Amino acid sequence: MAEIGVDIERAAYFLKKGDVIGMPTETVYGLAGNALDENAVLKIYEVKNRPKFDPIIAHTYSIDKVQEYVESIPQKAADLAEAFWPGPMTLLLKRNSIIPDILTSGLPYVAVRIPKHDLTLELLKHVDFPLAAPSANPFGYISPTTAAHVSDQLGNKIPYILEGGACSVGLESTIIGFDANQNPVIHRLGGMKVEEIEKVVGKVKLKLNVSSNPLAPGMLKTHYAPSKRLYIGQIPDLISRYPHMKLGIISFKDTYPQVPIESQMVLSEKGDLGEAAKSLFGALRKMDQMEIDFILTQRFPEEGLGRAINDRLKRAAYQ
Ligand code: TXA
Ligand code: MG
Repeated sequence: MAEIGVDIERAAYFLKKGDVIGMPTETVYGLAGNALDENAVLKIYEVKNRPKFDPIIAHTYSIDKVQEYVESIPQKAADLAEAFWPGPMTLLLKRNSIIPDILTSGLPYVAVRIPKHDLTLELLKHVDFPLAAPSANPFGYISPTTAAHVSDQLGNKIPYILEGGACSVGLESTIIGFDANQNPVIHRLGGMKVEEIEKVVGKVKLKLNVSSNPLAPGMLKTHYAPSKRLYIGQIPDLISRYPHMKLGIISFKDTYPQVPIESQMVLSEKGDLGEAAKSLFGALRKMDQMEIDFILTQRFPEEGLGRAINDRLKRAAYQ
Protein backbone atom coordinates (compact mmCIF):
# COMPACT_ATOMS: atom_id res chain seq x y z
CA MET A 1 0.00 0.00 0.00
CA ALA A 2 1.09 3.54 -0.71
CA GLU A 3 2.76 5.40 2.10
CA ILE A 4 0.95 8.69 2.78
CA GLY A 5 3.06 11.59 4.04
CA VAL A 6 4.23 15.16 3.71
CA ASP A 7 7.86 14.37 2.92
CA ILE A 8 8.86 16.24 -0.24
CA GLU A 9 12.32 14.64 -0.36
CA ARG A 10 10.73 11.23 -0.34
CA ALA A 11 8.19 12.17 -3.00
CA ALA A 12 11.03 13.56 -5.15
CA TYR A 13 13.06 10.39 -4.58
CA PHE A 14 10.33 8.22 -6.11
CA LEU A 15 9.79 10.62 -9.00
CA LYS A 16 13.52 10.75 -9.80
CA LYS A 17 13.68 6.99 -10.05
CA GLY A 18 10.79 6.91 -12.52
CA ASP A 19 7.93 5.98 -10.21
CA VAL A 20 4.52 7.62 -10.14
CA ILE A 21 2.98 9.05 -6.97
CA GLY A 22 -0.17 10.78 -5.74
CA MET A 23 0.18 14.57 -5.70
CA PRO A 24 -2.16 17.21 -4.29
CA THR A 25 -3.22 20.30 -6.23
CA GLU A 26 -5.88 22.90 -5.55
CA THR A 27 -8.20 21.29 -8.14
CA VAL A 28 -7.99 17.52 -7.65
CA TYR A 29 -5.20 15.07 -6.75
CA GLY A 30 -2.95 14.08 -9.63
CA LEU A 31 -1.10 10.89 -10.48
CA ALA A 32 2.35 12.35 -11.07
CA GLY A 33 5.44 11.20 -12.93
CA ASN A 34 8.38 12.68 -14.83
CA ALA A 35 6.76 14.26 -17.92
CA LEU A 36 10.01 13.98 -19.90
CA ASP A 37 10.47 10.25 -19.21
CA GLU A 38 8.45 8.07 -21.59
CA ASN A 39 8.49 5.13 -19.22
CA ALA A 40 7.16 7.15 -16.31
CA VAL A 41 4.37 8.52 -18.52
CA LEU A 42 3.58 4.98 -19.71
CA LYS A 43 3.33 3.95 -16.07
CA ILE A 44 0.75 6.69 -15.47
CA TYR A 45 -1.42 5.37 -18.34
CA GLU A 46 -1.13 1.87 -16.92
CA VAL A 47 -1.94 2.73 -13.31
CA LYS A 48 -4.99 4.75 -14.40
CA ASN A 49 -6.01 2.25 -17.03
CA ARG A 50 -6.24 5.19 -19.39
CA PRO A 51 -6.33 4.96 -23.18
CA LYS A 52 -3.21 6.37 -24.80
CA PHE A 53 -5.17 8.71 -27.06
CA ASP A 54 -5.91 10.81 -23.98
CA PRO A 55 -3.00 13.22 -23.44
CA ILE A 56 -1.72 14.36 -20.05
CA ILE A 57 -1.12 17.80 -18.49
CA ALA A 58 2.45 18.85 -17.62
CA HIS A 59 2.77 20.74 -14.32
CA THR A 60 5.54 23.14 -13.47
CA TYR A 61 6.21 26.09 -11.16
CA SER A 62 6.96 29.18 -13.26
CA ILE A 63 6.21 30.81 -16.60
CA ASP A 64 9.95 30.72 -17.38
CA LYS A 65 9.83 26.96 -17.01
CA VAL A 66 6.79 26.73 -19.27
CA GLN A 67 8.82 28.56 -21.90
CA GLU A 68 11.36 25.72 -21.90
CA TYR A 69 8.70 23.29 -23.13
CA VAL A 70 6.85 25.28 -25.78
CA GLU A 71 7.54 26.92 -29.15
CA SER A 72 5.75 30.12 -28.35
CA ILE A 73 3.15 31.67 -26.09
CA PRO A 74 0.38 33.70 -27.78
CA GLN A 75 -0.16 37.14 -26.23
CA LYS A 76 -3.53 36.20 -24.76
CA ALA A 77 -2.04 33.06 -23.24
CA ALA A 78 0.66 35.19 -21.62
CA ASP A 79 -2.02 37.54 -20.27
CA LEU A 80 -3.98 34.62 -18.82
CA ALA A 81 -0.86 33.03 -17.35
CA GLU A 82 0.10 36.32 -15.74
CA ALA A 83 -3.37 36.78 -14.29
CA PHE A 84 -4.20 33.26 -13.10
CA TRP A 85 -1.08 31.14 -12.54
CA PRO A 86 -0.58 29.52 -10.12
CA GLY A 87 -4.20 28.50 -10.42
CA PRO A 88 -6.88 26.15 -11.78
CA MET A 89 -6.21 26.86 -15.46
CA THR A 90 -4.48 24.73 -18.10
CA LEU A 91 -3.23 26.20 -21.39
CA LEU A 92 -2.73 24.28 -24.62
CA LEU A 93 0.49 25.59 -26.19
CA LYS A 94 2.55 24.54 -29.20
CA ARG A 95 5.07 22.08 -27.79
CA ASN A 96 8.75 21.84 -28.62
CA SER A 97 10.87 18.71 -29.08
CA ILE A 98 11.68 18.29 -25.36
CA ILE A 99 8.11 17.08 -24.80
CA PRO A 100 7.76 13.36 -25.60
CA ASP A 101 5.02 12.28 -28.05
CA ILE A 102 3.45 10.01 -25.50
CA LEU A 103 2.60 12.94 -23.21
CA THR A 104 0.50 14.67 -25.88
CA SER A 105 -0.71 11.53 -27.66
CA GLY A 106 1.16 12.85 -30.67
CA LEU A 107 -0.73 16.16 -30.74
CA PRO A 108 1.25 19.32 -31.61
CA TYR A 109 0.08 21.03 -28.41
CA VAL A 110 1.05 20.34 -24.83
CA ALA A 111 -1.26 21.07 -21.91
CA VAL A 112 0.56 22.99 -19.15
CA ARG A 113 -0.43 24.23 -15.75
CA ILE A 114 1.09 25.84 -12.66
CA PRO A 115 -0.93 24.48 -9.73
CA LYS A 116 -1.70 26.60 -6.69
CA HIS A 117 -0.59 24.35 -3.88
CA ASP A 118 2.40 25.20 -1.68
CA LEU A 119 3.58 21.66 -1.07
CA THR A 120 3.35 20.74 -4.73
CA LEU A 121 5.07 23.92 -5.91
CA GLU A 122 7.89 23.04 -3.55
CA LEU A 123 7.99 19.50 -4.92
CA LEU A 124 8.11 20.85 -8.49
CA LYS A 125 11.15 22.92 -7.53
CA HIS A 126 12.83 19.82 -6.04
CA VAL A 127 12.93 17.94 -9.34
CA ASP A 128 14.45 19.14 -12.60
CA PHE A 129 11.57 18.02 -14.82
CA PRO A 130 7.88 18.94 -15.17
CA LEU A 131 5.37 16.53 -13.69
CA ALA A 132 2.84 14.79 -15.91
CA ALA A 133 -0.35 14.36 -13.90
CA PRO A 134 -3.85 13.34 -14.84
CA SER A 135 -6.42 13.15 -12.07
CA ALA A 136 -5.53 10.23 -9.77
CA ASN A 137 -8.61 8.09 -10.39
CA PRO A 138 -9.18 5.03 -12.53
CA PHE A 139 -10.15 6.27 -16.02
CA GLY A 140 -13.77 7.41 -16.19
CA TYR A 141 -14.37 7.51 -12.42
CA ILE A 142 -14.81 10.51 -10.13
CA SER A 143 -11.67 12.60 -9.54
CA PRO A 144 -10.10 12.41 -6.04
CA THR A 145 -10.11 15.45 -3.78
CA THR A 146 -8.34 13.91 -0.76
CA ALA A 147 -5.31 11.67 -0.27
CA ALA A 148 -7.67 8.98 1.08
CA HIS A 149 -9.61 8.98 -2.22
CA VAL A 150 -6.36 8.29 -4.06
CA SER A 151 -5.33 5.62 -1.60
CA ASP A 152 -8.73 3.87 -1.79
CA GLN A 153 -8.48 3.27 -5.50
CA LEU A 154 -4.82 3.38 -6.48
CA GLY A 155 -3.03 2.80 -3.16
CA ASN A 156 -1.98 -0.70 -4.15
CA LYS A 157 -0.36 0.49 -7.38
CA ILE A 158 1.81 3.41 -6.25
CA PRO A 159 4.51 3.80 -3.56
CA TYR A 160 3.70 7.24 -2.18
CA ILE A 161 0.94 9.84 -1.84
CA LEU A 162 1.88 13.37 -0.85
CA GLU A 163 -0.68 14.47 1.73
CA GLY A 164 -1.83 17.98 0.90
CA GLY A 165 -5.21 18.10 2.60
CA ALA A 166 -8.58 18.45 0.90
CA CYS A 167 -8.41 20.24 -2.45
CA SER A 168 -9.49 23.87 -2.09
CA VAL A 169 -11.23 24.11 -5.49
CA GLY A 170 -12.47 20.56 -5.97
CA LEU A 171 -13.08 20.67 -9.74
CA GLU A 172 -10.44 20.04 -12.42
CA SER A 173 -8.76 22.97 -14.15
CA THR A 174 -10.35 24.97 -16.94
CA ILE A 175 -8.61 24.02 -20.20
CA ILE A 176 -7.98 26.79 -22.72
CA GLY A 177 -6.58 26.44 -26.24
CA PHE A 178 -6.02 29.08 -28.92
CA ASP A 179 -7.52 29.20 -32.42
CA ALA A 180 -5.79 30.12 -35.69
CA ASN A 181 -6.13 33.80 -34.78
CA GLN A 182 -4.60 33.15 -31.36
CA ASN A 183 -7.93 33.73 -29.64
CA PRO A 184 -8.74 31.64 -26.56
CA VAL A 185 -11.17 28.73 -26.78
CA ILE A 186 -12.35 26.89 -23.67
CA HIS A 187 -12.10 23.11 -24.11
CA ARG A 188 -13.15 22.11 -20.59
CA LEU A 189 -15.06 24.12 -18.00
CA GLY A 190 -13.40 23.92 -14.61
CA GLY A 191 -12.12 25.63 -11.50
CA MET A 192 -11.38 28.96 -13.21
CA LYS A 193 -14.62 30.85 -13.88
CA VAL A 194 -15.42 31.88 -17.45
CA GLU A 195 -16.40 35.33 -16.15
CA GLU A 196 -12.92 35.82 -14.67
CA ILE A 197 -11.23 34.67 -17.87
CA GLU A 198 -13.33 37.07 -19.95
CA LYS A 199 -12.32 40.00 -17.76
CA VAL A 200 -8.74 39.46 -18.96
CA VAL A 201 -9.12 38.43 -22.62
CA GLY A 202 -12.66 39.43 -23.58
CA LYS A 203 -15.38 37.08 -24.85
CA VAL A 204 -14.16 33.49 -25.24
CA LYS A 205 -15.58 30.70 -27.33
CA LEU A 206 -16.56 27.37 -25.82
CA LYS A 207 -15.83 24.15 -27.68
CA LEU A 208 -16.82 21.51 -25.20
CA ASN A 209 -18.15 18.57 -27.15
CA VAL A 210 -15.73 16.95 -29.48
CA SER A 211 -17.04 13.45 -29.24
CA SER A 212 -15.33 11.64 -32.13
CA ASN A 213 -11.54 11.97 -31.72
CA PRO A 214 -11.94 14.17 -28.61
CA LEU A 215 -9.36 16.82 -27.96
CA ALA A 216 -10.11 16.46 -24.27
CA PRO A 217 -11.61 13.11 -23.35
CA GLY A 218 -12.72 14.75 -20.11
CA MET A 219 -15.22 15.92 -22.69
CA LEU A 220 -16.46 12.42 -23.49
CA LYS A 221 -20.20 12.21 -22.94
CA THR A 222 -19.85 9.91 -19.96
CA HIS A 223 -16.96 10.59 -17.62
CA TYR A 224 -16.45 11.45 -13.97
CA ALA A 225 -19.17 8.86 -13.30
CA PRO A 226 -20.16 7.04 -10.11
CA SER A 227 -21.20 3.40 -10.53
CA LYS A 228 -24.74 4.11 -9.32
CA ARG A 229 -27.29 5.80 -11.54
CA LEU A 230 -27.34 9.56 -11.11
CA TYR A 231 -30.45 11.52 -12.16
CA ILE A 232 -30.58 15.30 -12.54
CA GLY A 233 -33.80 17.31 -12.34
CA GLN A 234 -36.28 18.91 -9.99
CA ILE A 235 -35.58 16.84 -6.89
CA PRO A 236 -39.23 16.57 -5.66
CA ASP A 237 -40.29 15.34 -9.14
CA LEU A 238 -37.50 12.77 -9.20
CA ILE A 239 -38.45 11.57 -5.70
CA SER A 240 -42.02 10.92 -6.77
CA ARG A 241 -40.88 9.19 -9.94
CA TYR A 242 -39.06 6.44 -7.97
CA PRO A 243 -41.38 5.58 -5.04
CA HIS A 244 -39.97 2.04 -4.58
CA MET A 245 -36.31 2.88 -4.70
CA LYS A 246 -33.85 3.77 -1.97
CA LEU A 247 -32.79 7.26 -2.92
CA GLY A 248 -29.80 9.41 -2.06
CA ILE A 249 -29.82 13.15 -2.68
CA ILE A 250 -27.03 15.59 -3.45
CA SER A 251 -28.55 19.05 -3.28
CA PHE A 252 -27.24 22.58 -3.43
CA LYS A 253 -28.97 24.04 -0.34
CA ASP A 254 -32.08 22.10 0.65
CA THR A 255 -33.13 18.87 2.32
CA TYR A 256 -36.28 16.89 1.48
CA PRO A 257 -38.55 15.31 4.13
CA GLN A 258 -39.58 12.45 1.78
CA VAL A 259 -36.09 10.88 2.00
CA PRO A 260 -34.14 9.80 5.14
CA ILE A 261 -31.87 12.64 6.17
CA GLU A 262 -28.80 10.35 6.40
CA SER A 263 -29.11 9.73 2.65
CA GLN A 264 -28.92 13.41 1.82
CA MET A 265 -25.89 15.63 1.28
CA VAL A 266 -26.24 19.38 1.08
CA LEU A 267 -23.26 20.92 -0.71
CA SER A 268 -23.64 24.46 0.59
CA GLU A 269 -26.35 25.48 3.01
CA LYS A 270 -25.58 29.11 2.39
CA GLY A 271 -25.76 28.67 -1.37
CA ASP A 272 -22.10 29.30 -2.18
CA LEU A 273 -21.09 27.70 -5.49
CA GLY A 274 -17.40 27.61 -4.51
CA GLU A 275 -18.23 25.64 -1.39
CA ALA A 276 -20.48 23.34 -3.41
CA ALA A 277 -17.74 22.72 -6.00
CA LYS A 278 -15.29 21.83 -3.27
CA SER A 279 -17.46 19.06 -1.84
CA LEU A 280 -19.12 17.76 -5.01
CA PHE A 281 -16.76 14.89 -5.88
CA GLY A 282 -16.49 13.73 -2.26
CA ALA A 283 -20.29 13.66 -2.07
CA LEU A 284 -20.55 11.58 -5.25
CA ARG A 285 -18.04 9.10 -3.88
CA LYS A 286 -19.81 8.85 -0.56
CA MET A 287 -23.18 8.29 -2.23
CA ASP A 288 -21.61 5.62 -4.40
CA GLN A 289 -20.73 3.68 -1.23
CA MET A 290 -24.09 4.11 0.50
CA GLU A 291 -26.87 1.56 0.59
CA ILE A 292 -29.01 3.35 -1.95
CA ASP A 293 -30.26 2.53 -5.45
CA PHE A 294 -30.14 5.87 -7.22
CA ILE A 295 -28.54 9.26 -6.62
CA LEU A 296 -30.71 12.30 -7.31
CA THR A 297 -29.38 15.78 -7.87
CA GLN A 298 -30.43 19.11 -9.31
CA ARG A 299 -29.18 21.61 -11.85
CA PHE A 300 -27.04 24.33 -10.28
CA PRO A 301 -27.20 28.03 -11.17
CA GLU A 302 -25.53 28.39 -14.59
CA GLU A 303 -22.96 30.99 -13.46
CA GLY A 304 -19.46 31.01 -11.96
CA LEU A 305 -18.43 27.53 -10.83
CA GLY A 306 -22.06 26.42 -11.28
CA ARG A 307 -21.34 25.97 -14.98
CA ALA A 308 -18.52 23.50 -14.32
CA ILE A 309 -20.59 21.73 -11.64
CA ASN A 310 -23.43 21.26 -14.15
CA ASP A 311 -20.96 20.08 -16.77
CA ARG A 312 -19.55 17.38 -14.44
CA LEU A 313 -23.00 16.28 -13.27
CA LYS A 314 -24.22 15.97 -16.85
CA ARG A 315 -21.32 13.70 -17.71
CA ALA A 316 -21.73 11.70 -14.51
CA ALA A 317 -25.46 11.23 -15.12
CA TYR A 318 -27.05 7.95 -16.16
CA GLN A 319 -27.87 7.98 -19.88
O1 TXA B 1 -7.02 20.15 -12.56
C1 TXA B 1 -6.54 19.38 -13.38
O2 TXA B 1 -6.46 19.66 -14.59
C2 TXA B 1 -6.02 18.04 -12.85
C3 TXA B 1 -4.85 18.30 -11.91
C4 TXA B 1 -4.18 17.03 -11.46
O3 TXA B 1 -3.94 19.16 -12.53
N1 TXA B 1 -5.66 17.19 -13.94
C5 TXA B 1 -6.57 16.63 -14.75
O4 TXA B 1 -6.01 15.80 -15.70
O5 TXA B 1 -7.77 16.81 -14.65
P1 TXA B 1 -6.86 14.78 -16.58
O6 TXA B 1 -5.87 14.05 -17.38
O7 TXA B 1 -7.75 14.00 -15.72
O8 TXA B 1 -7.67 15.73 -17.51
C6 TXA B 1 -6.93 16.54 -18.39
C7 TXA B 1 -7.62 16.72 -19.70
C8 TXA B 1 -7.85 15.43 -20.41
O9 TXA B 1 -9.22 15.34 -20.75
C9 TXA B 1 -6.96 15.53 -21.63
O10 TXA B 1 -7.55 14.95 -22.74
C10 TXA B 1 -6.77 17.01 -21.80
O11 TXA B 1 -6.75 17.52 -20.50
N2 TXA B 1 -5.48 17.28 -22.42
C11 TXA B 1 -4.28 17.01 -21.93
N3 TXA B 1 -3.31 17.30 -22.81
C12 TXA B 1 -3.93 17.79 -23.89
C13 TXA B 1 -3.48 18.26 -25.16
N4 TXA B 1 -2.21 18.28 -25.48
N5 TXA B 1 -4.42 18.68 -26.03
C14 TXA B 1 -5.73 18.64 -25.70
N6 TXA B 1 -6.22 18.19 -24.54
C15 TXA B 1 -5.33 17.77 -23.65
MG1 MG C 1 -9.43 13.11 -15.16
